[in-house]
Amino acid sequence: MSPRRVRTHANPLSWRGEVPPPDWTRAFADPSLPWAVDWGMGNGVFLLASAARSPDWNWIGIEVRKPLADRVAEEIRARGIPNAFAVWGNVAPGLPGYFPSRSLRRIYALFPDPWFKKKHEKRRLLAGDFLDRLSPCVAPGAEFLLSSDQPTLAQWMRAKLDARRDWENLDGKGNYAPARAIEIPTEWERHAEKAGRPIAWLRYRFSGAPLSPSPRLPPACISEFPGGRKGVR
Ligand SMILES: C[S@@+](CC[C@H](N)C(=O)[O-])C[C@H]1O[C@@H](n2cnc3c(N)ncnc32)[C@H](O)[C@@H]1O
Repeated sequence: MSPRRVRTHANPLSWRGEVPPPDWTRAFADPSLPWAVDWGMGNGVFLLASAARSPDWNWIGIEVRKPLADRVAEEIRARGIPNAFAVWGNVAPGLPGYFPSRSLRRIYALFPDPWFKKKHEKRRLLAGDFLDRLSPCVAPGAEFLLSSDQPTLAQWMRAKLDARRDWENLDGKGNYAPARAIEIPTEWERHAEKAGRPIAWLRYRFSGAPLSPSPRLPPACISEFPGGRKGVR
């Protein structure tokens, strides 16, 4: 059977409809383990390898291209991976209600955007009020690890996060990480390296309460963290 063709890019703004939160109490064998999110997981190479390498974490992959998300979800099912979960869709508009309050201990945005043109800025993951929406779902002390092989995008992501009071650049404002910030290479990272494109890495720590929430946001995230708060500071 020939593999199904997957579009190179999907515009997250053209996503219609909501992505309802799953029943998080059933997503993982042990929902009380700390949660890591790979936002824009692509083929799930990093997600699945991370889940195998770090079984003491739960790994959530989010992907807007359905065939990729379906493939990863099927692999998780087929291999019975207890600590990984794949989500299809643009979850960003549904924040902060999508994740339990203060549930995310680590967030990865690894080569998240192909949208390097200024006119496509709105399509980028961190565009608009994404960081305001995300904040209520982030556990104090959580890490946000980002990368890009597009200098414009790397600078833009750094400026967005450096301007926040709730995220601290671990390498100092205006700086990139001195070395790669993750242990397992992603698929895109391999392409970039092969093509000789330099990669910028960014590391942030969630340093406190979110900025005052925008009046458009619901007052709080859904439910408490399922299965107790083990691993969540
Ligand atoms: C350049 S690829 C990188 C994939 C993977 N992180 C890697 O490093 O190999 C970016 C991925 O993010 C996905 N993506 C972009 N915006 C997204 C969004 N708002 N929500 C979910 N996925 C998104 C794209 O469909 C694409 O698969």
